Amino acid sequence: MNNHPIHLLILTGGPSTEHEVSLRSCKSITDNLDKSKYKILLAGIEKDGAWLLRNPDDYLNITEGEAFFTMKPGIREVELKKAEQKVWLIDSTSRERIESVDVVFPVLHGAYGEDGVLQGILRAVGVAFVGVDLMASAIGMDKDICKRLWRDAGIPIARYEIITPATRDNFSYAKLSARLGSTMFVKPANAGSSVGVHKVSNEAEWDNALNDAFLYDRKLLVEEAISGKEIECAVLGNEFPEASVVGEIIPTHSFYSYEAKYVDDQGANIRIPADVPDDVAHKIRMEAIKAYIAIGAEGLSRVDFFLQPDGNIIINEINTMPGFTSISMYPKMWEATGLSYMALLDKLIALGLERHSAKSKLKVVKD
Ligand SMILES: Nc1ncnc2c1ncn2[C@@H]1O[C@H](COP(=O)(O)OP(=O)(O)O)[C@@H](O)[C@H]1O
Ligand SMILES: [Mg+2]
Repeated sequence: MNNHPIHLLILTGGPSTEHEVSLRSCKSITDNLDKSKYKILLAGIEKDGAWLLRNPDDYLNITEGEAFFTMKPGIREVELKKAEQKVWLIDSTSRERIESVDVVFPVLHGAYGEDGVLQGILRAVGVAFVGVDLMASAIGMDKDICKRLWRDAGIPIARYEIITPATRDNFSYAKLSARLGSTMFVKPANAGSSVGVHKVSNEAEWDNALNDAFLYDRKLLVEEAISGKEIECAVLGNEFPEASVVGEIIPTHSFYSYEAKYVDDQGANIRIPADVPDDVAHKIRMEAIKAYIAIGAEGLSRVDFFLQPDGNIIINEINTMPGFTSISMYPKMWEATGLSYMALLDKLIALGLERHSAKSKLKVVKD
């Protein structure tokens, strides 16, 4: 480490149903970053997409007893611009340079921040950033596309059908349950935090589930219900990803719904490491790395599985920007593996810089 602090721009919030969850993740990150190593800049992204500069030491309204925070008003609208071989955070109105930026840490979940849109903006500017790049972010966000890649890589997935507004009338509860079983899960292809996810066990629930899920995406998955434990694994790295110990989520609700995740304090219990035999844990870790590589992830991801009573492992999904609060599974699983929250942040930032430097060496013009 050289003596100059790394200029780190943190982005949080964003136009997503997970805006508030992103603020919670961001609070833990700003609390845990090693202030001696980084000069921290922070732009909170409004729900309308505007980037507003904020004071990284005082950017949240935190009300006692409230699960979610809101952002304090922004100071001024900002954007990134490359000039003289550097990337600058500039005032959008006056175009004045505020500070140079070495690396961006997008702490956003869901649409815009986790689906490749923001990664595309950062790529266009040419700045280093933490986490998964454009293509794998977009793939990881789409529960249909990543399952196709995993099927191709020989990783077991649940059976599912895709429904779009154009094909909705071709499907009914009776028709699909004959193929997928009487209990099915309806979910938007691109969403997260269980928003729009429904467990459907009869004809009456079917229409409501579809109507609600279609509020969030124009492509839905209908999956067979998988019974068993919900096991998660944290993956970290670029070319040589490593997997953490595995953890278990034990929802106290009928499934791991939005309420169980964020509203009800007692909505789920977690167990790290998961109570599974060593050989099963090892197999899940290997599958997690395989799934990560299959979608082209770099930096970090959390890979979620079902472990069936007969020992079969079925992959559920990948989260390319998993929850990052101090009680979230991703940092907790690394802590249990021997990597502290602060060291994990250092590693993620180093991985972002390393990837940028490797990509910067690639030829962009032919000799
Ligand atoms: N096929 C399935 N079988 C059983 N439970 C499921 C299935 N799909 C989703 N669930 C339940 O719904 C939760 C949320 O679904 P998930 O696909 O993980 O979406 P999200 O990206 O919103 O977390 C899961 O954690 C699990 O509890
Ligand atoms: Mg999930």
